[in-house]
Amino acid sequence: MGSRKAGLSGRRVLLVVGAGVAAYKALELARLFRRRGAGVRGVLTPAATQFVTPLSLAALTGEEVFSELFSLTRESRIGHIELSREADLVVVAPATADLLAKMANGLCDDLASTLLLATDKRILVAPAMNLRMWAHPATRRNVERLARDGVSFVGPDAGAMACGEWGLGRMAEPSAIFEAAAKLLEGDTTLPPPEGAMSAARPLAGRRAIVTAGPTHEPIDPVRVIANRSSGRQGYAIAAALAQAGAEVTLVSGPTALESPAGVGIVRVETARQMQAAVEAALPADIFVGAAAVADWRPAAEAGHKMKRGGAKEATLTLVVNPDILAGIGTRKKGRPKVVVGFAAETEKLLEHGRRKLVAKGCNLILANDVGAASGVFGGARNRVRAISADGVEEWPEATKDEVAMRLVARIVELLERAP
Ligand code: CTP
Repeated sequence: MGSRKAGLSGRRVLLVVGAGVAAYKALELARLFRRRGAGVRGVLTPAATQFVTPLSLAALTGEEVFSELFSLTRESRIGHIELSREADLVVVAPATADLLAKMANGLCDDLASTLLLATDKRILVAPAMNLRMWAHPATRRNVERLARDGVSFVGPDAGAMACGEWGLGRMAEPSAIFEAAAKLLEGDTTLPPPEGAMSAARPLAGRRAIVTAGPTHEPIDPVRVIANRSSGRQGYAIAAALAQAGAEVTLVSGPTALESPAGVGIVRVETARQMQAAVEAALPADIFVGAAAVADWRPAAEAGHKMKRGGAKEATLTLVVNPDILAGIGTRKKGRPKVVVGFAAETEKLLEHGRRKLVAKGCNLILANDVGAASGVFGGARNRVRAISADGVEEWPEATKDEVAMRLVARIVELLERAP
Protein backbone atom coordinates (compact mmCIF):
# COMPACT_ATOMS: atom_id res chain seq x y z
CA MET A 1 0.00 0.00 0.00
CA GLY A 2 2.83 2.37 0.91
CA SER A 3 4.28 2.37 -2.58
CA ARG A 4 0.83 2.75 -4.06
CA LYS A 5 0.34 6.12 -2.39
CA ALA A 6 3.15 7.67 -4.34
CA GLY A 7 3.15 5.14 -7.15
CA LEU A 8 0.08 6.39 -8.95
CA SER A 9 1.01 10.00 -9.35
CA GLY A 10 1.19 10.94 -12.98
CA ARG A 11 -0.78 7.85 -14.00
CA ARG A 12 -4.09 8.34 -15.77
CA VAL A 13 -7.28 6.35 -15.57
CA LEU A 14 -10.21 6.45 -17.96
CA LEU A 15 -13.20 5.64 -15.76
CA VAL A 16 -16.20 4.40 -17.74
CA VAL A 17 -19.37 4.38 -15.67
CA GLY A 18 -22.22 2.12 -16.78
CA ALA A 19 -25.88 2.48 -15.88
CA GLY A 20 -26.46 0.62 -12.65
CA VAL A 21 -27.46 1.27 -9.09
CA ALA A 22 -23.78 0.75 -8.21
CA ALA A 23 -22.83 3.80 -10.32
CA TYR A 24 -22.69 5.94 -7.19
CA LYS A 25 -19.77 3.82 -6.01
CA ALA A 26 -17.83 5.00 -9.06
CA LEU A 27 -17.66 8.39 -7.38
CA GLU A 28 -15.90 6.86 -4.39
CA LEU A 29 -13.58 5.01 -6.78
CA ALA A 30 -12.71 8.28 -8.54
CA ARG A 31 -11.96 9.80 -5.16
CA LEU A 32 -9.60 6.92 -4.29
CA PHE A 33 -7.66 7.35 -7.54
CA ARG A 34 -7.38 11.08 -7.02
CA ARG A 35 -6.26 10.67 -3.42
CA ARG A 36 -3.40 8.45 -4.60
CA GLY A 37 -2.33 10.95 -7.17
CA ALA A 38 -3.81 9.45 -10.34
CA GLY A 39 -5.65 11.58 -12.88
CA VAL A 40 -9.16 10.42 -13.74
CA ARG A 41 -11.16 11.11 -16.86
CA GLY A 42 -14.82 10.21 -16.37
CA VAL A 43 -17.09 8.91 -19.12
CA LEU A 44 -20.71 8.04 -18.47
CA THR A 45 -22.96 6.00 -20.70
CA PRO A 46 -26.04 8.07 -21.54
CA ALA A 47 -28.18 5.90 -19.24
CA ALA A 48 -25.61 6.19 -16.42
CA THR A 49 -26.38 9.91 -16.23
CA GLN A 50 -29.68 8.83 -14.66
CA PHE A 51 -27.70 7.41 -11.74
CA VAL A 52 -24.87 9.93 -11.30
CA THR A 53 -24.62 13.38 -12.78
CA PRO A 54 -21.69 14.36 -14.99
CA LEU A 55 -21.33 17.35 -12.70
CA SER A 56 -20.64 15.31 -9.56
CA LEU A 57 -18.10 13.13 -11.39
CA ALA A 58 -16.48 16.25 -12.84
CA ALA A 59 -16.29 17.81 -9.39
CA LEU A 60 -14.52 14.75 -8.00
CA THR A 61 -12.13 14.24 -10.90
CA GLY A 62 -11.47 17.89 -11.57
CA GLU A 63 -11.80 17.14 -15.28
CA GLU A 64 -14.47 17.50 -17.90
CA VAL A 65 -16.77 14.46 -18.06
CA PHE A 66 -18.16 13.15 -21.33
CA SER A 67 -21.11 10.99 -22.18
CA GLU A 68 -22.18 11.75 -25.75
CA LEU A 69 -20.11 10.71 -28.74
CA PHE A 70 -21.17 13.69 -30.80
CA SER A 71 -20.88 16.39 -28.17
CA LEU A 72 -17.32 15.19 -27.52
CA THR A 73 -16.01 16.47 -30.84
CA ARG A 74 -18.29 19.49 -30.79
CA GLU A 75 -17.44 20.69 -27.31
CA SER A 76 -13.80 19.81 -26.98
CA ARG A 77 -10.77 19.34 -29.06
CA ILE A 78 -10.23 15.75 -27.95
CA GLY A 79 -11.22 13.05 -30.40
CA HIS A 80 -12.49 9.75 -29.13
CA ILE A 81 -9.42 7.85 -30.28
CA GLU A 82 -7.22 10.20 -28.34
CA LEU A 83 -9.51 9.98 -25.32
CA SER A 84 -9.34 6.20 -25.43
CA ARG A 85 -5.56 6.21 -25.45
CA GLU A 86 -4.54 9.07 -23.21
CA ALA A 87 -5.07 6.92 -20.12
CA ASP A 88 -2.75 4.22 -18.78
CA LEU A 89 -5.68 2.05 -17.78
CA VAL A 90 -9.39 1.88 -18.57
CA VAL A 91 -11.66 0.97 -15.66
CA VAL A 92 -15.32 0.11 -16.27
CA ALA A 93 -17.36 0.38 -13.07
CA PRO A 94 -20.11 -0.63 -12.92
CA ALA A 95 -19.87 -2.85 -15.99
CA THR A 96 -23.47 -3.74 -16.80
CA ALA A 97 -24.54 -6.87 -18.68
CA ASP A 98 -25.19 -4.61 -21.65
CA LEU A 99 -21.71 -3.07 -21.61
CA LEU A 100 -20.07 -6.50 -21.27
CA ALA A 101 -22.14 -7.78 -24.20
CA LYS A 102 -21.13 -4.82 -26.33
CA MET A 103 -17.48 -5.19 -25.40
CA ALA A 104 -17.50 -8.93 -26.09
CA ASN A 105 -19.02 -8.38 -29.51
CA GLY A 106 -17.25 -5.20 -30.51
CA LEU A 107 -20.40 -3.08 -30.65
CA CYS A 108 -20.10 0.66 -30.27
CA ASP A 109 -23.15 2.84 -30.38
CA ASP A 110 -22.22 5.43 -27.78
CA LEU A 111 -19.10 7.14 -26.49
CA ALA A 112 -18.36 4.60 -23.74
CA SER A 113 -18.54 1.54 -26.00
CA THR A 114 -16.64 3.34 -28.77
CA LEU A 115 -13.81 4.16 -26.38
CA LEU A 116 -13.72 0.56 -25.17
CA LEU A 117 -13.35 -0.64 -28.75
CA ALA A 118 -10.81 2.01 -29.70
CA THR A 119 -8.48 1.74 -26.72
CA ASP A 120 -5.11 0.03 -26.86
CA LYS A 121 -4.78 0.02 -23.07
CA ARG A 122 -5.60 -2.62 -20.50
CA ILE A 123 -9.21 -2.74 -19.40
CA LEU A 124 -10.39 -3.63 -15.90
CA VAL A 125 -14.10 -4.27 -15.51
CA ALA A 126 -16.14 -4.44 -12.31
CA PRO A 127 -19.39 -6.20 -13.27
CA ALA A 128 -22.62 -5.35 -11.48
CA MET A 129 -25.96 -6.84 -12.34
CA ASN A 130 -28.80 -8.97 -11.08
CA LEU A 131 -27.64 -12.47 -10.18
CA ARG A 132 -29.75 -14.08 -12.90
CA MET A 133 -28.28 -11.79 -15.52
CA TRP A 134 -24.80 -12.67 -14.25
CA ALA A 135 -25.64 -16.39 -14.30
CA HIS A 136 -27.20 -16.25 -17.78
CA PRO A 137 -25.32 -18.31 -20.37
CA ALA A 138 -25.09 -15.24 -22.62
CA THR A 139 -23.26 -13.26 -19.93
CA ARG A 140 -21.09 -16.30 -19.18
CA ARG A 141 -20.09 -16.47 -22.82
CA ASN A 142 -19.34 -12.75 -22.91
CA VAL A 143 -17.26 -12.89 -19.73
CA GLU A 144 -15.27 -15.87 -20.97
CA ARG A 145 -14.66 -14.20 -24.30
CA LEU A 146 -13.54 -10.96 -22.68
CA ALA A 147 -11.22 -12.85 -20.34
CA ARG A 148 -9.68 -14.56 -23.36
CA ASP A 149 -9.31 -11.13 -24.98
CA GLY A 150 -7.22 -10.10 -21.98
CA VAL A 151 -9.76 -7.99 -20.12
CA SER A 152 -9.25 -8.05 -16.35
CA PHE A 153 -12.09 -8.57 -13.91
CA VAL A 154 -12.68 -7.64 -10.32
CA GLY A 155 -15.75 -9.12 -8.62
CA PRO A 156 -18.65 -9.37 -8.71
CA ASP A 157 -19.24 -10.11 -5.05
CA ALA A 158 -21.91 -12.17 -3.42
CA GLY A 159 -24.29 -10.24 -1.25
CA ALA A 160 -27.61 -8.51 -0.93
CA MET A 161 -28.59 -6.77 -4.14
CA ALA A 162 -30.59 -3.63 -4.77
CA CYS A 163 -33.35 -5.75 -6.31
CA GLY A 164 -33.86 -7.49 -2.96
CA GLU A 165 -32.31 -10.77 -4.09
CA TRP A 166 -29.13 -12.30 -2.82
CA GLY A 167 -26.27 -13.81 -4.75
CA LEU A 168 -23.35 -13.16 -7.08
CA GLY A 169 -23.65 -9.95 -9.04
CA ARG A 170 -22.97 -7.09 -6.66
CA MET A 171 -20.21 -4.76 -7.76
CA ALA A 172 -16.90 -5.17 -5.95
CA GLU A 173 -16.26 -2.50 -3.33
CA PRO A 174 -14.45 0.63 -4.60
CA SER A 175 -11.42 -0.25 -2.45
CA ALA A 176 -11.14 -3.68 -4.13
CA ILE A 177 -11.49 -2.15 -7.59
CA PHE A 178 -8.87 0.42 -6.69
CA GLU A 179 -6.47 -2.28 -5.49
CA ALA A 180 -6.94 -4.31 -8.68
CA ALA A 181 -6.45 -1.18 -10.79
CA ALA A 182 -3.37 -0.15 -8.83
CA LYS A 183 -1.82 -3.58 -9.41
CA LEU A 184 -2.36 -3.25 -13.13
CA LEU A 185 -1.05 0.31 -13.16
CA GLU A 186 2.04 -0.51 -11.15
CA GLY A 187 2.79 -3.81 -12.71
CA ASP A 188 3.95 -4.87 -16.09
CA THR A 189 1.35 -4.73 -18.80
CA THR A 190 2.19 -8.30 -19.64
CA LEU A 191 0.15 -9.56 -16.68
CA PRO A 192 -1.56 -12.79 -17.67
CA PRO A 193 -5.25 -12.56 -18.45
CA PRO A 194 -7.16 -12.42 -15.20
CA GLU A 195 -8.09 -15.41 -13.16
CA GLY A 196 -10.83 -13.17 -11.86
CA ALA A 197 -13.32 -13.59 -14.67
CA MET A 198 -13.39 -17.33 -14.58
CA SER A 199 -13.27 -17.69 -10.85
CA ALA A 200 -15.85 -14.97 -10.32
CA ALA A 201 -18.29 -16.58 -12.70
CA ARG A 202 -17.37 -20.09 -11.59
CA PRO A 203 -16.14 -19.83 -8.01
CA LEU A 204 -16.37 -23.60 -7.56
CA ALA A 205 -14.42 -24.55 -10.68
CA GLY A 206 -12.22 -27.53 -9.88
CA ARG A 207 -14.34 -28.54 -6.86
CA ARG A 208 -16.27 -31.78 -6.57
CA ALA A 209 -19.67 -31.88 -4.89
CA ILE A 210 -22.09 -34.63 -3.92
CA VAL A 211 -25.74 -33.83 -3.27
CA THR A 212 -28.42 -36.21 -2.02
CA ALA A 213 -32.03 -35.41 -2.89
CA GLY A 214 -35.55 -36.74 -2.83
CA PRO A 215 -37.14 -39.37 -0.65
CA THR A 216 -36.00 -42.92 -0.26
CA HIS A 217 -38.31 -45.87 -0.81
CA GLU A 218 -37.93 -48.77 1.60
CA PRO A 219 -39.57 -51.91 0.25
CA ILE A 220 -42.05 -53.83 2.35
CA ASP A 221 -42.74 -56.33 -0.37
CA PRO A 222 -42.42 -56.27 -4.19
CA VAL A 223 -45.27 -53.74 -4.56
CA ARG A 224 -45.28 -51.69 -1.37
CA VAL A 225 -42.80 -49.19 0.01
CA ILE A 226 -42.36 -46.87 2.95
CA ALA A 227 -41.95 -43.41 1.41
CA ASN A 228 -42.30 -39.74 2.33
CA ARG A 229 -43.53 -36.53 0.73
CA SER A 230 -40.17 -35.11 -0.37
CA SER A 231 -40.28 -33.90 -4.00
CA GLY A 232 -36.51 -33.56 -4.39
CA ARG A 233 -36.83 -30.00 -5.69
CA GLN A 234 -34.58 -28.32 -3.15
CA GLY A 235 -31.78 -30.86 -3.62
CA TYR A 236 -32.05 -30.67 -7.42
CA ALA A 237 -31.94 -26.87 -7.26
CA ILE A 238 -28.79 -27.09 -5.11
CA ALA A 239 -27.13 -29.53 -7.51
CA ALA A 240 -27.95 -27.20 -10.42
CA ALA A 241 -26.65 -24.11 -8.60
CA LEU A 242 -23.41 -25.87 -7.62
CA ALA A 243 -22.88 -26.93 -11.24
CA GLN A 244 -23.58 -23.39 -12.43
CA ALA A 245 -20.91 -22.17 -10.04
CA GLY A 246 -18.46 -24.51 -11.76
CA ALA A 247 -18.45 -27.55 -9.46
CA GLU A 248 -18.40 -31.10 -10.78
CA VAL A 249 -21.61 -32.42 -9.21
CA THR A 250 -22.89 -35.92 -8.51
CA LEU A 251 -26.55 -35.90 -7.57
CA VAL A 252 -27.64 -39.04 -5.77
CA SER A 253 -31.39 -39.01 -6.06
CA GLY A 254 -34.15 -41.09 -4.59
CA PRO A 255 -37.29 -41.64 -6.67
CA THR A 256 -38.56 -38.27 -7.97
CA ALA A 257 -40.52 -36.99 -10.95
CA LEU A 258 -37.79 -34.45 -11.77
CA GLU A 259 -35.47 -34.33 -14.74
CA SER A 260 -31.79 -34.28 -13.97
CA PRO A 261 -30.40 -30.72 -14.01
CA ALA A 262 -28.09 -29.70 -16.86
CA GLY A 263 -24.42 -30.42 -16.31
CA VAL A 264 -25.00 -32.67 -13.29
CA GLY A 265 -24.11 -36.36 -13.08
CA ILE A 266 -27.08 -38.21 -11.62
CA VAL A 267 -27.23 -41.57 -9.86
CA ARG A 268 -30.77 -42.77 -9.25
CA VAL A 269 -31.39 -45.00 -6.24
CA GLU A 270 -34.37 -46.25 -4.23
CA THR A 271 -33.32 -47.13 -0.72
CA ALA A 272 -31.25 -45.44 1.96
CA ARG A 273 -28.65 -48.17 1.76
CA GLN A 274 -28.34 -47.74 -2.00
CA MET A 275 -28.08 -43.99 -1.49
CA GLN A 276 -25.29 -44.46 1.03
CA ALA A 277 -23.41 -46.80 -1.31
CA ALA A 278 -23.76 -44.33 -4.20
CA VAL A 279 -22.49 -41.48 -2.03
CA GLU A 280 -19.49 -43.53 -0.88
CA ALA A 281 -18.74 -44.45 -4.49
CA ALA A 282 -18.82 -40.76 -5.52
CA LEU A 283 -16.22 -39.74 -2.93
CA PRO A 284 -13.80 -37.96 -2.66
CA ALA A 285 -15.50 -34.58 -2.73
CA ASP A 286 -14.92 -31.05 -1.45
CA ILE A 287 -18.59 -30.44 -0.74
CA PHE A 288 -21.37 -32.69 0.51
CA VAL A 289 -24.97 -31.52 0.76
CA GLY A 290 -27.47 -33.93 2.30
CA ALA A 291 -30.83 -32.66 1.10
CA ALA A 292 -32.52 -36.06 0.84
CA ALA A 293 -35.36 -37.00 3.12
CA VAL A 294 -33.81 -40.33 3.97
CA ALA A 295 -36.18 -42.82 5.61
CA ASP A 296 -34.94 -43.36 9.13
CA TRP A 297 -36.30 -46.89 9.19
CA ARG A 298 -36.75 -49.79 6.84
CA PRO A 299 -38.68 -53.04 7.17
CA ALA A 300 -36.47 -55.61 8.85
CA ALA A 301 -37.09 -58.07 6.08
CA GLU A 302 -38.49 -57.52 2.62
CA ALA A 303 -41.11 -60.11 1.81
CA GLY A 304 -40.20 -61.89 -1.39
CA HIS A 305 -43.83 -61.97 -2.47
CA LYS A 306 -46.82 -59.63 -2.14
CA MET A 307 -48.00 -59.83 1.45
CA LYS A 308 -51.52 -61.18 1.62
CA ARG A 309 -54.15 -59.65 3.81
CA GLY A 310 -55.61 -63.05 4.57
CA GLY A 311 -58.12 -62.75 7.36
CA ALA A 312 -55.88 -60.60 9.60
CA LYS A 313 -57.31 -57.52 11.36
CA GLU A 314 -53.88 -56.23 12.28
CA ALA A 315 -50.38 -56.55 10.98
CA THR A 316 -47.08 -55.57 12.46
CA LEU A 317 -44.07 -54.36 10.51
CA THR A 318 -40.77 -54.71 12.24
CA LEU A 319 -38.48 -51.83 11.32
CA VAL A 320 -34.74 -51.48 11.67
CA VAL A 321 -32.80 -48.25 11.60
CA ASN A 322 -31.20 -47.07 8.36
CA PRO A 323 -27.66 -45.75 8.15
CA ASP A 324 -27.37 -42.00 8.70
CA ILE A 325 -25.68 -40.96 5.46
CA LEU A 326 -25.01 -37.36 6.45
CA ALA A 327 -23.57 -38.25 9.86
CA GLY A 328 -21.37 -40.87 8.21
CA ILE A 329 -19.88 -38.24 5.87
CA GLY A 330 -19.70 -35.41 8.42
CA THR A 331 -17.87 -37.46 11.04
CA ARG A 332 -15.43 -39.24 8.73
CA LYS A 333 -11.91 -39.22 10.11
CA LYS A 334 -10.28 -39.51 6.70
CA GLY A 335 -11.46 -37.96 3.48
CA ARG A 336 -14.20 -35.80 4.99
CA PRO A 337 -15.38 -33.21 2.44
CA LYS A 338 -14.25 -29.72 3.49
CA VAL A 339 -17.81 -28.43 3.65
CA VAL A 340 -20.66 -30.65 4.82
CA VAL A 341 -24.19 -29.26 4.75
CA GLY A 342 -27.28 -30.94 6.14
CA PHE A 343 -30.93 -30.12 6.45
CA ALA A 344 -33.03 -30.36 9.54
CA ALA A 345 -36.63 -30.98 8.67
CA GLU A 346 -38.58 -30.13 11.78
CA THR A 347 -42.13 -29.57 12.83
CA GLU A 348 -41.20 -28.16 16.26
CA LYS A 349 -38.21 -26.74 18.20
CA LEU A 350 -36.48 -25.87 14.95
CA LEU A 351 -33.35 -24.23 16.33
CA GLU A 352 -32.82 -26.64 19.19
CA HIS A 353 -33.02 -29.68 16.91
CA GLY A 354 -31.05 -27.92 14.20
CA ARG A 355 -28.17 -27.08 16.54
CA ARG A 356 -28.11 -30.63 17.85
CA LYS A 357 -27.93 -32.04 14.32
CA LEU A 358 -25.12 -29.59 13.41
CA VAL A 359 -22.92 -31.11 16.10
CA ALA A 360 -24.14 -34.72 16.05
CA LYS A 361 -23.76 -35.03 12.28
CA GLY A 362 -20.45 -33.17 12.03
CA CYS A 363 -21.82 -30.47 9.70
CA ASN A 364 -20.43 -27.03 8.86
CA LEU A 365 -23.93 -25.78 8.15
CA ILE A 366 -27.46 -26.96 8.82
CA LEU A 367 -30.39 -25.48 6.94
CA ALA A 368 -33.29 -25.92 9.30
CA ASN A 369 -36.77 -25.69 7.87
CA ASP A 370 -40.23 -26.08 9.21
CA VAL A 371 -41.85 -28.88 7.25
CA GLY A 372 -45.15 -28.87 9.11
CA ALA A 373 -48.12 -29.38 6.78
CA ALA A 374 -48.98 -25.65 6.95
CA SER A 375 -45.54 -24.62 5.70
CA GLY A 376 -46.07 -26.14 2.24
CA VAL A 377 -42.33 -26.85 2.04
CA PHE A 378 -42.59 -30.53 1.17
CA GLY A 379 -43.58 -30.65 -2.48
CA GLY A 380 -43.82 -26.84 -2.75
CA ALA A 381 -41.70 -24.42 -4.77
CA ARG A 382 -40.72 -22.14 -1.90
CA ASN A 383 -38.68 -22.58 1.23
CA ARG A 384 -37.84 -20.63 4.35
CA VAL A 385 -34.75 -21.74 6.19
CA ARG A 386 -32.51 -20.78 9.04
CA ALA A 387 -28.86 -21.37 8.45
CA ILE A 388 -27.20 -22.71 11.57
CA SER A 389 -23.41 -22.85 11.81
CA ALA A 390 -20.62 -22.21 14.31
CA ASP A 391 -21.10 -18.51 13.41
CA GLY A 392 -24.65 -18.56 14.81
CA VAL A 393 -28.08 -18.54 13.24
CA GLU A 394 -28.99 -16.60 10.11
CA GLU A 395 -32.59 -16.19 9.16
CA TRP A 396 -32.96 -16.36 5.39
CA PRO A 397 -36.06 -14.75 3.96
CA GLU A 398 -38.68 -16.95 2.37
CA ALA A 399 -37.66 -17.53 -1.24
CA THR A 400 -37.98 -19.96 -4.11
CA LYS A 401 -36.01 -23.16 -3.78
CA ASP A 402 -33.76 -21.92 -6.63
CA GLU A 403 -32.98 -18.76 -4.69
CA VAL A 404 -32.28 -20.70 -1.50
CA ALA A 405 -29.93 -22.89 -3.56
CA MET A 406 -28.04 -19.88 -4.92
CA ARG A 407 -27.72 -18.40 -1.50
CA LEU A 408 -26.46 -21.70 -0.16
CA VAL A 409 -23.84 -21.88 -2.93
CA ALA A 410 -22.58 -18.40 -2.03
CA ARG A 411 -22.37 -19.51 1.62
CA ILE A 412 -20.51 -22.69 0.61
CA VAL A 413 -17.99 -20.58 -1.34
CA GLU A 414 -17.39 -18.56 1.83
CA LEU A 415 -17.04 -21.67 3.99
CA LEU A 416 -14.58 -23.24 1.53
CA GLU A 417 -12.45 -20.11 1.57
CA ARG A 418 -12.22 -20.39 5.34
CA ALA A 419 -11.73 -24.17 5.42
CA PRO A 420 -8.25 -25.28 6.48
N1 CTP B 1 -30.07 -37.84 6.84
C1 CTP B 1 -29.27 -38.81 6.26
N2 CTP B 1 -29.49 -40.11 6.53
C2 CTP B 1 -30.49 -40.51 7.34
C3 CTP B 1 -31.33 -39.52 7.95
C4 CTP B 1 -31.08 -38.19 7.67
O1 CTP B 1 -28.36 -38.46 5.51
N3 CTP B 1 -30.69 -41.79 7.57
C5 CTP B 1 -29.78 -36.43 6.59
C6 CTP B 1 -30.80 -35.70 5.78
O2 CTP B 1 -30.48 -35.74 4.40
C7 CTP B 1 -30.72 -34.30 6.34
C8 CTP B 1 -30.32 -34.52 7.78
O3 CTP B 1 -29.76 -35.80 7.83
O4 CTP B 1 -29.71 -33.55 5.74
C9 CTP B 1 -31.40 -34.39 8.79
O5 CTP B 1 -32.49 -35.15 8.44
P1 CTP B 1 -33.76 -35.18 9.38
O6 CTP B 1 -34.77 -36.11 8.80
O7 CTP B 1 -34.18 -33.79 9.71
O8 CTP B 1 -33.14 -35.75 10.71
P2 CTP B 1 -33.01 -37.15 11.35
O9 CTP B 1 -31.58 -37.47 11.51
O10 CTP B 1 -33.84 -38.14 10.62
O11 CTP B 1 -33.55 -36.87 12.80
P3 CTP B 1 -35.05 -36.86 13.38
O12 CTP B 1 -35.82 -37.85 12.54
O13 CTP B 1 -34.85 -37.25 14.79
O14 CTP B 1 -35.54 -35.45 13.23
